[in-house]
Amino acid sequence: MHNNRTTITQYIIEEQRHVAGATGDFSGLLNDVVTACKVISNLVNHGALVGVLGSAGQENVQGETQKKLDVLSNDIFIRSNEWAGHLAAMASEEMEEIYPIPARYPRGKYLLTFDPLDGSSNTDVNVSVGTIFSILRCADDVVEPTEQDFLQPGTEQVAAGYALYGPSTMMVLTTGNGVNGFTLDQNIGEFILTHPGMTIPADTREFAINASNMRFWEPPVRRYVDECLAGREGVRGEDFNMRWIASMVAEVHRILTRGGVFMYPMDEKIRAKGQGGKLRLLYEANPMAFIVEQAGGAAITGRERIMSLQPEALHQRVPVILGSRNEIERIEGYHQR
Ligand code: AHG
Ligand code: MN
Ligand code: MN
Repeated sequence: MHNNRTTITQYIIEEQRHVAGATGDFSGLLNDVVTACKVISNLVNHGALVGVLGSAGQENVQGETQKKLDVLSNDIFIRSNEWAGHLAAMASEEMEEIYPIPARYPRGKYLLTFDPLDGSSNTDVNVSVGTIFSILRCADDVVEPTEQDFLQPGTEQVAAGYALYGPSTMMVLTTGNGVNGFTLDQNIGEFILTHPGMTIPADTREFAINASNMRFWEPPVRRYVDECLAGREGVRGEDFNMRWIASMVAEVHRILTRGGVFMYPMDEKIRAKGQGGKLRLLYEANPMAFIVEQAGGAAITGRERIMSLQPEALHQRVPVILGSRNEIERIEGYHQR
């Protein structure tokens, strides 16, 4: 039987029924986000066949060379989400300024932030990439949304999710009521609920960090990793496994599936550049922290809970340490000492 499968559209509408006074705006917005991800998935999937690999030959506001797929994915997200009247403005990793909804469209009550293509250094080598998004409310009295309206702590997120363009295309979503995973059935063009109620095991013996930065790490991170690497003979008394995909979406998905720790911590190299971290608070850290916490994990900068941070700038970067709860508590403890 195939007709007893739950599509993401059905899931979203059924969720909406539990919310008193829901107008359908939020469901409509999520639907448009899903459509955008399906279009990006199709493009990523066709890769060299449709000439979308390689560099776009320009830099974004982060000072990173944009891939063609970064630019195309950003455009797809804008076009899919600007017209329907659910949004007041959008903000993206790939755009210096916020994107207010053009006057020709109705203006709605939500704000959308996104990393249109995460892990884009992986596109040319055919390794998993993804899209990350977060939905915030825009205050009722706002006439012209500005950057200021986006500077809300992660605890204010209404929803967050990511699409993972891997061996399967998946969509993982939270609206603050647990985490659900959907797999794209390419034949019918629908995401099907395949991973209801995703949870992160509290314990793990696997961690992910870019170890080429080891000489720049701060003592707490160095201590944690040293102890993991010491294995059975060391203080942890167990062997640890290591992974690094360089797509945060793929790392978080692995952690949601079998547990683990992901770290892009503060280090001396990042500090020397005058940055607060590597990953972006509004497009990467907050949405992933929301998902991870909703799945029973934890997400910190080292010293603080990511979702409690008061953002100070649109493109603010922060250290990110997330995953299995007991390991994150241990790492936080190392930072406090
Ligand atoms: P993006 O492609 O959106 O710029 O993000 C890449 C991020 C993250 O996904 C990944 O974990 C990290 O940067 C990889 O950094 P390194 O290249 O330093 O390993
Ligand atoms: Mn990214
Ligand atoms: Mn990106």
